[in-house]
Amino acid sequence: MRVNGKHYRTIWLAADGRTVEIIDQTRLPHEFVTIRLGALAEAAHAIKSMQVRGAPLIGATAAYGVALAMAADPSDAALDRAYDTLLETRPTAVNLRWALDEMRAHLRNRPRGERVAAAYARAAEIADEDVAICDAIGTHGLKLFRDIHAKKKPGARFNVLTHCNAGWLATVDWGTALSPIYKAHDAGMDIHVWVDETRPRNQGMSLTAWELGQHGVKHTVIADNTGGHLMQHGLVDCCIVGTDRTTATGDVCNKIGTYLKALAARDNGVPFFVALPSPTIDWTVRDGVKEIPIEQRSGEELSRMTGRLPDGKVVTVDIAPEKSPMANYAFDVTPSRLVTALVTERGSCPATAAGMAALFPDRAPKG
Ligand code: MRU
Repeated sequence: MRVNGKHYRTIWLAADGRTVEIIDQTRLPHEFVTIRLGALAEAAHAIKSMQVRGAPLIGATAAYGVALAMAADPSDAALDRAYDTLLETRPTAVNLRWALDEMRAHLRNRPRGERVAAAYARAAEIADEDVAICDAIGTHGLKLFRDIHAKKKPGARFNVLTHCNAGWLATVDWGTALSPIYKAHDAGMDIHVWVDETRPRNQGMSLTAWELGQHGVKHTVIADNTGGHLMQHGLVDCCIVGTDRTTATGDVCNKIGTYLKALAARDNGVPFFVALPSPTIDWTVRDGVKEIPIEQRSGEELSRMTGRLPDGKVVTVDIAPEKSPMANYAFDVTPSRLVTALVTERGSCPATAAGMAALFPDRAPKG
């Protein structure tokens, strides 16, 4: 997508053919800064510190992290070390494990002399595949939007609510939940997006609002608790969110607060869509609430806020009583019964084991 009119992906190979460039998302929306990753440790740090985040982009960064590790040492031991180091950076987004499994399977049986080139080539493929997948999700999601829009008065504005950031910044390009929004906008639909701010790290306010603004999509940032009120007043035509891990039965793990939005949507008869690339499906898990590990992050993400002063300086301030304990659960699980449809690169399906197996007969567990 474009930043100040120039096309960017969120991750790319630098001109030297070895180091990897990313957008440092911890600096947005105040500063647009790109940085270079030159070693495994830097790739792991980028994921852990959320310079890159979002399930698909975490996967692509991990793939390049393995390539950086191979460039330094193409041994079996280094491959295993890279796998373990990257796997423990973030526990919830399953694309991380998927990308690492892909890389290890691709490299394991190759002679050491071929591993560096093979690692960079597979990492680039994983990134390109993500772009194609998200492009297809956009096309399928747009069809769902059009079906709902067609039932409104001709020319009426189409209002979509989204949570967190599932835009191009969370992927390599296009985004998952935002891909159909970009396609609708580009096709001339009068679309407007309600953007949940998404406390505590504000991915909605800092990232979703920023990238929608860069693309010229109409949007309004709302406090996280506003969605239910808007739905009660007919101001939301549908919700669409991304996911960090979806089970074989259609339970959806996503940024904390998603479940409450799905409950409000069900109570108000508002369709609740979840957009996901197939590497986000964890076919080994059936019960999302019981089985998906939920990342707990530092309480400082709650008790501190970063912002820009009128003089342009970016500062971080404490906003909580000094001694109050903080609990910071990063994700929650929305049971499949609250999800109207899953939107994948192969089309849409009901959020059920049968629906998913019909779209992915080659991957779904048998029986
Ligand atoms: O903690 P983050 O920012 O890595 O969270 C991931 C997300 O961006 C969201 O949960 C998103 O909705 C799913 S990833 C496309």
